[in-house]
Amino acid sequence: MSDFPTIALLGPGAIGTTIAAALHEVGRAPVLCGRTAHPQLILRHDEGEIVVPGPVLSDPAALSQRFDLVFVAVKTTQVADSASWLAALCDENTVVCALQNGVEQKSQLEPRVNGASVLPSVVWFPAQREPDASVWLRAKPRLTLPDEPQAKRVVEALSNTRCAVELSADFTSIAWRKLLQNAVAGLMVLANRRAGMFSRGDITALALAYLGECLTVARAEGAVLSDNVAQDIVDGFHRAPADLGTSILADRQANRPLEWDIRNGVVQRYGRTHGIPTPISDVVVPLLAAGSEGPG
Ligand SMILES: NC(=O)c1ccc[n+]([C@@H]2O[C@H](COP(=O)([O-])OP(=O)(O)OC[C@H]3O[C@@H](n4cnc5c(N)ncnc54)[C@H](OP(=O)(O)O)[C@@H]3O)[C@@H](O)[C@H]2O)c1
Repeated sequence: MSDFPTIALLGPGAIGTTIAAALHEVGRAPVLCGRTAHPQLILRHDEGEIVVPGPVLSDPAALSQRFDLVFVAVKTTQVADSASWLAALCDENTVVCALQNGVEQKSQLEPRVNGASVLPSVVWFPAQREPDASVWLRAKPRLTLPDEPQAKRVVEALSNTRCAVELSADFTSIAWRKLLQNAVAGLMVLANRRAGMFSRGDITALALAYLGECLTVARAEGAVLSDNVAQDIVDGFHRAPADLGTSILADRQANRPLEWDIRNGVVQRYGRTHGIPTPISDVVVPLLAAGSEGPG
């Protein structure tokens, strides 16, 4: 009997390919489930490339077992369309690790996973899909998970892999810290520019003002974050390679639906719940929503 759990990965895109490659390198390759059938996955990183043998299954009816651990790396806009996969992969003994942005993974996934435990994560590394369907990993893979008993299964599965896993006793604060970074990255969509745009003084000022608004909402949701966080995030964009994008910009440029609601809309929605004015969100969110869904 294997020491490691049976593992499936749903959504072998930029993040999913990275995790699949990390598992494959140590002999724990997951069953790959996706929308598009691929013969293999390719991850390019600083020192070379990793080829993960396929196939990527594209029909949930092909599965005959449920899994101990399911990594979910479809975009949050793709969860509803992935329902038949989630139903086929999960039962009440499954741990579902959401490799997705936002602070709402549990409420989005729980109704679809047959009573499985849903564990959110914060994904800290940028990866991007290339035109040849390979994935370019642009930093060392790292995840943060809430320090809950279910996290042990993920920690064990990713032990001794190139993907580091940290546990946090205050996951709420970590998740909101990342959300703030994602929210302000949404400005790249509206400017149609990559991280280099933050070197402009006017964009720096807008980003700091927007982050201040997001920070007020995050604190109302229980995040413990210092006043410095806005400047720290902007400093991070100043240090980033000028050509560093963000997955929501890649989606906009490819004319795909945007994760605007879980990255930006959430600040406006929770702001309304708490009676916090969100004047910058009130401009940014409708523009992102219209960019995503039109009409026009
Ligand atoms: N990329 C990053 O740098 C990054 C960093 C941090 C967090 N994140 C977050 O991580 C999550 C995943 O992002 P990503 O960039 O990895 O997305 P992605 O590259 O677009 O990958 C999504 C994957 O899901 C598959 N998929 C879509 N609909 C499906 C369905 N109905 N059934 C099965 N598979 C389906 C896609 O298949 P196709 O091949 O057919 O499109 C693709 O393989 C998002 O929440 C994102 O915000 C991303």
